[in-house]
Amino acid sequence: MCGIVGYIGTKTALPILLQGLRRLEYRGYDSAGVAIFDGARMQRTRAVGKIDQLSNAMGKSNWAGSSGIAHTRWATHGGVTEANAHPHIACSDDLVIVHNGIIENYRELKEKLGPAHRWTSETDTEVLAHLIESHYTGDLTRAVQTALSHVRGTYGLVAMHAQNPHTLIAARMGSPLVIGIGEGEHYVASDATPMLAYTKKVVFLADGEIAEIKRENVLIMNMKHEPVKKYVEEIDWDEAQAEKQGFPDFMLKEIFDQPSVFEDAIRGRIDVEQGTAHLGGINMTEDQMRAIDRVLFIACGTARHAGIIAKYAFERLVGIPAEVDVASEFRYRDPVLNEKTLVFGISQSGETADTLAALREARRKGALVRGIVNVVGSTIARETDGGTYIHAGPELAVASTKAFTNMVAIMLLYAIQFARLRRMTISTGIKLLNALKEVPRQMEHILEQNDCIKTYAEKYALYKNMLFLGRGINYPVALEGSLKLKEISYIHSEAFPGGEMKHGPIALISPDFPVVCVMTQNQLYDKMRSNVEEIRARGAHIILIATEGDAAARELADDVICVPETHELLEPLLNTIPLQLFAYHSAVVLGRDVDRPRNLAKSVTVE
Ligand code: F6R
Repeated sequence: MCGIVGYIGTKTALPILLQGLRRLEYRGYDSAGVAIFDGARMQRTRAVGKIDQLSNAMGKSNWAGSSGIAHTRWATHGGVTEANAHPHIACSDDLVIVHNGIIENYRELKEKLGPAHRWTSETDTEVLAHLIESHYTGDLTRAVQTALSHVRGTYGLVAMHAQNPHTLIAARMGSPLVIGIGEGEHYVASDATPMLAYTKKVVFLADGEIAEIKRENVLIMNMKHEPVKKYVEEIDWDEAQAEKQGFPDFMLKEIFDQPSVFEDAIRGRIDVEQGTAHLGGINMTEDQMRAIDRVLFIACGTARHAGIIAKYAFERLVGIPAEVDVASEFRYRDPVLNEKTLVFGISQSGETADTLAALREARRKGALVRGIVNVVGSTIARETDGGTYIHAGPELAVASTKAFTNMVAIMLLYAIQFARLRRMTISTGIKLLNALKEVPRQMEHILEQNDCIKTYAEKYALYKNMLFLGRGINYPVALEGSLKLKEISYIHSEAFPGGEMKHGPIALISPDFPVVCVMTQNQLYDKMRSNVEEIRARGAHIILIATEGDAAARELADDVICVPETHELLEPLLNTIPLQLFAYHSAVVLGRDVDRPRNLAKSVTVE
């Protein structure tokens, strides 16, 4: 995820900004840049690669200015190039801006601004720079406020103008910004890490707030230019804690990131009025999409579990055959494919060797191949003929969490988009999209149960084996819960569809074998309930994921985690979260290295 640093004070800004960028490296980035007012004019350097490359690109320039802004970019709009790196300028070199977030209507805005502007990048941020410049009449705060009133999307931005280099303007909507309060100097950054070496006094900007940051003072206003009273907070985080925004591990932070990154995944991609989704990256005409008669999802591990959910959604909504393949099996099978088969490769890293090889094989055999990827510019993203970024932001913990929910979100959007071109009614589409819009709030509600889930994890962490059961759309949820538990806690666990129990696994059931059952209220509720009763009759401890208000749940289970009701196809987006938390806390209780479990790598680039 991109990082921002700004400084205004009496010291030389350059080393503070470069050091600040290094502190933000943990967020992941592909290019970096810095802009400083050197006393006469705005100086700017950007480079692809690491901060060292940026330093090299600056050569011997030793700008003496004491105000400036800097940025690390994680590509979203446009490739990894120097031209796309921040800070961006507009037509003149006087205005510089760094920005995190996504401007949804940047294409419209760019069109309105017109070709007379000097366009040098593919980014939404450059459009924002031109928009601000077009409203600038000597007051940068007003220009930013007016420009933002035309913007749809998210931003954490910092702007500065050569005509008034002693003021930084910062504004936030959906993308965090923190202001550090020093003596005769101020800092601003996307999180507190770059400023911790200098100050522990901070002000967190809220959505809809804009700050005028000068050496001597900071004025915070709302978008109507009315002052807002803010409190200075004293943080006692060290750097490692600040990187994790106060969470003890990246995994827990990433689990809690889910409501906001889910919004990033669907933002600008749904059309509630028409009950459909628009994922332009598919690179197919509507006629080509209608001609597809089979869809295949290829992935490994957690990404494959997202693929199973996609299979259920495509079959149910689109009404065409859908299959899921383990990439390492697919590549050595003799798959039957033709030009009407659409293959989706799903991958967080975009570098998984087996997935990549399987996609190459599918393409060789004539299928249409598209990528569902998190890391922008990764090999799968480059080698497929289209697809969609899931916008989960960098996932640093080895165990995948937020990438999973965003993969599911994107696959659901694809299922809706394809279904609306075939048999799905507008009202079903609207219903699904309205339910999807509720998901972030419902995720927050589940995350509020973190303490309760922790006590369950503490209760069961010493068991050697566990079983996870689900049916239908919740079978992949059970698979994912089981994978999370085994990979980070090292507790042996397995997952089965509830209906398979009688065909073997039920022999394992005993009081020493706790069973996690996903029994939410959907069309298979009664079937799943029978499975739960069979287990209960054999004396196993039962942890139940149940829909809020299900009175039977408390009678059937030792421990219950309640989740809000949603459309059946959306259930995995909610039901997986308690299982991620359960796995996380089990691993913590057992003293495991949660972010770096043994024997595992984040990106599996070998076979
Ligand atoms: C589990 C996990 C792995 C990955 C798998 C595929 O938590 O992270 O199972 O899902 O290695 O990785 P990507 O998605 O990068 O292709």
